[in-house]
Amino acid sequence: MILPITVYGNPVLRKKAVEIDKDYQGLQQLIDNMYETMYKAEGVGLAAPQVNKNIRLIVIDATPFGEDDESVKDFKKVLINPEIIEFRGEKESFNEGCLSLPTIREDVYRPTEITIKYQDENFKEYVEEWVGVKARITQHEYDHLEGKLFVDHISPIRRRLINGKLTAIAKGKTIPEYRVTPNRK
Ligand code: NI
Repeated sequence: MILPITVYGNPVLRKKAVEIDKDYQGLQQLIDNMYETMYKAEGVGLAAPQVNKNIRLIVIDATPFGEDDESVKDFKKVLINPEIIEFRGEKESFNEGCLSLPTIREDVYRPTEITIKYQDENFKEYVEEWVGVKARITQHEYDHLEGKLFVDHISPIRRRLINGKLTAIAKGKTIPEYRVTPNRK
């Protein structure tokens, strides 16, 4: 089932999401729905707050980048209760977009390497080191669980330049091609 996506201005995108455990009801269905929603909207990552669930769950499928970048040709992951333990490397710029910020794209500087601890959909725990596109997408999605958005990382000048676009999204004047949850007045 395709779920409506929350957009800038929705308070759920500014909350710190909470951990879940094996008793979380309907988890597999939610994961399936999040993948379906993400594919329909042509995203490569989606965090639960973007479907109005304040929980620490992320789905990623970076395989569309696999043609240009061998390292992500199989990179499809469910991340439950992820924790980025360490950020390393130089900061690099990458032009990011977000399904919760339709029409906006900005260059964002982030570290190129991370160490991440997470659980998969069976709550098996992993600690892994990711670089490049893997680290990039994961940091973007992880931010969603911390109540952050990529526009929080850009300069005050850039932020001022896109302020009109942000207001239009918040007020429901920007209509993307995918279904969104209208913000309350
Ligand atoms: Ni996003």
